[in-house]
Amino acid sequence: MVAPRTALSDVVGALPQAVNPLALSLNECPFPPLPAVRSALRACDEAANRYPEFLPQRLRSLIADHDGMAEEQVIVGAGATGVIMQVLHAVTSPGDTMVMAEPTFDGYPIFAQMARLRTVTIPLDAHGHHDLDAMAEAGKGARVVVVCRPHNPTGTIEPAIEIERLLTRLPEDTVVLLDEAYVEFLAAGQRIDGPNLVARFGNVVVVRTFSKAYGLAGLRIGYGFCAPDLGRQLWRMQLPFGIGLSAQVAVAASYDAEDQLRQRIRMIAAERRYLQTRLRALGVYSTDGQANFVYLPGGSLPWPEVFDGTGLQLRHYADGGVRITIGSRQSTRAVLGAVTAAA
Ligand SMILES: Cc1ncc(COP(=O)(O)O)c(C=O)c1O
Repeated sequence: MVAPRTALSDVVGALPQAVNPLALSLNECPFPPLPAVRSALRACDEAANRYPEFLPQRLRSLIADHDGMAEEQVIVGAGATGVIMQVLHAVTSPGDTMVMAEPTFDGYPIFAQMARLRTVTIPLDAHGHHDLDAMAEAGKGARVVVVCRPHNPTGTIEPAIEIERLLTRLPEDTVVLLDEAYVEFLAAGQRIDGPNLVARFGNVVVVRTFSKAYGLAGLRIGYGFCAPDLGRQLWRMQLPFGIGLSAQVAVAASYDAEDQLRQRIRMIAAERRYLQTRLRALGVYSTDGQANFVYLPGGSLPWPEVFDGTGLQLRHYADGGVRITIGSRQSTRAVLGAVTAAA
């Protein structure tokens, strides 16, 4: 006899697959959570009848210790998304202006709409880089300026010195969101010393996430850090009971397993370089991506047609560009197979 389908089995059946070589549209980590993280998470089930902390003090302290900052400098949210919205709620009023690049992470136009902000968008150049001069100019009348480093969708990074130059040109009461969602993929020499930066610029909030390199997108954990004065202002907007019990456990377990995580990050970066090299050999230009994805601008091959029928889930852009998340070698082969057939 066939068991009746229940709503629960439907819901469980609809969960995304941890391993899916075709799922390359959201810049997720292609690996399931580390065994040590999974087993730590099981401990949360047993305490699910209890609320988490009223405000996520312990998680904040864990992150502050890990990144070498004072607790009052750190805020925590439901992913970087939650952190960005918290910042916008704390520092903007409806009608204020937010400056950002175009194209950028899909979330930003949505966040701006939710906070009822006016947006000024500054086009990236042909190689996917920010026009920081134009951003500095536009930022003079703005409440918030957003710079993603690496940028999404192009994966490019602006030199640290250029970011500092931008900061010196912006008014002190313009808040700068330095979005480092993909920072863990950068080599040490490419990174900005975040704690040092926020010590010198009181208007900068560095935003990070456990969704990408840490591979915990489904748990929704992100954080931001900034100078203590701004940190205290942002913490006042911290949602009571807003961070689930599992976040603290997952972060602690991830920090304990950092060697294994770093190995995974190296594998993803190596796979990205392999895909970039092979694309170049096929005569296909990709921007100088430094994160866990590559971006093929529009105007060369018709990317939607090239990948049509392959089953690959990719992020296509209005100008014809396509962003491809790095997955396994199987994913890379599927991408290269489609490009080879078209090139
Ligand atoms: C640049 C950038 N910022 C923020 C986010 C949001 O990440 P999350 O809310 O999962 O932490 C993303 C996700 O793709 C992103 O690419």
